[in-house]
Amino acid sequence: MYRAAPLRGTPSLRDMAPMDRAERDALLELLRLQAEWGADECLADAPLDRFAAAPSRPLAADGADVRRSARPERGAPRSEAAAAAQDAPAAAAGTPRRPAIALPVPPDASRAAALAAGAPTLDALREAIAGFDGSALRDTATTLVFSDGVPGAPTMLIGEAPGAEEDRLGKPFVGASGRLLDRMLASIGLSRERDVYLTNILPWRPPGNRTPTDAEIALFLPFVHRHIALASPRHVLLLGGVAAKALLGAREGITRLRGRWTRLPPEAGGLPALPTLHPAYLLRTPAAKRDAWADLILLRRVLDGAAPPA
Ligand code: URA
Repeated sequence: MYRAAPLRGTPSLRDMAPMDRAERDALLELLRLQAEWGADECLADAPLDRFAAAPSRPLAADGADVRRSARPERGAPRSEAAAAAQDAPAAAAGTPRRPAIALPVPPDASRAAALAAGAPTLDALREAIAGFDGSALRDTATTLVFSDGVPGAPTMLIGEAPGAEEDRLGKPFVGASGRLLDRMLASIGLSRERDVYLTNILPWRPPGNRTPTDAEIALFLPFVHRHIALASPRHVLLLGGVAAKALLGAREGITRLRGRWTRLPPEAGGLPALPTLHPAYLLRTPAAKRDAWADLILLRRVLDGAAPPA
């Protein structure tokens, strides 16, 4: 379920006088946009202050216990919220960017790097990852999740790690956040079948959808670098804080990194990269859709011929 954000300034149906055609078209346009972004439920005409009547046990708008429903999808919401909290003081003080972080080097990293470098094609890379036994994630996950979409497409999307649905079906972004992602892409005229190529930082689902550890990210990073080289996109869209941290080595959270084209480091291919919010975060934080929309416009402009500023 994806709830419509209130359409500001929209009169309630009860109060509506007969409207002229332009007014009606403008309202329909707003409604169409909400539907395109996946809203399938209208909660109320007027906003409701739920803090004013907060129950002692935290309940979601539909009455569900948020502590039990806190992790239905992959971990982006947690990382993003934590990142936002971490970023706040620095953002307020206008602190300059801190240097990039270095991920720990796990024992099997050089084996992963050798396997990745030896893969001449995407199929060979998939085989190499499937055969790589340096991570316990392979034992707990069900299916390798390698990629979806069109290899060679100009835009490569990189997410965090498979969730339950992805683990079952062996494709990235096929759960609730994937469905939102498809609608987001459609809103700028893109489809996964035709225009983009998708993968994740981790090819195996972490148990219980937990956030990938730094060691896991570092272990699979050589495969991701090789994946980018073989898929040969023109630019990459980094979905969420884990992808941005892994590929940019950035200390800042995604809320500070998003909305600006930057470049991958040379070892990742040096391509233009646009960090943006993870769709799972948008499912939990509908107000952030505005920022995600602004990022999609930046992507659309580059696809329409503008040079990425970075
Ligand atoms: N979240 C991700 O980051 N990747 C997926 O494939 C699904 C959910």
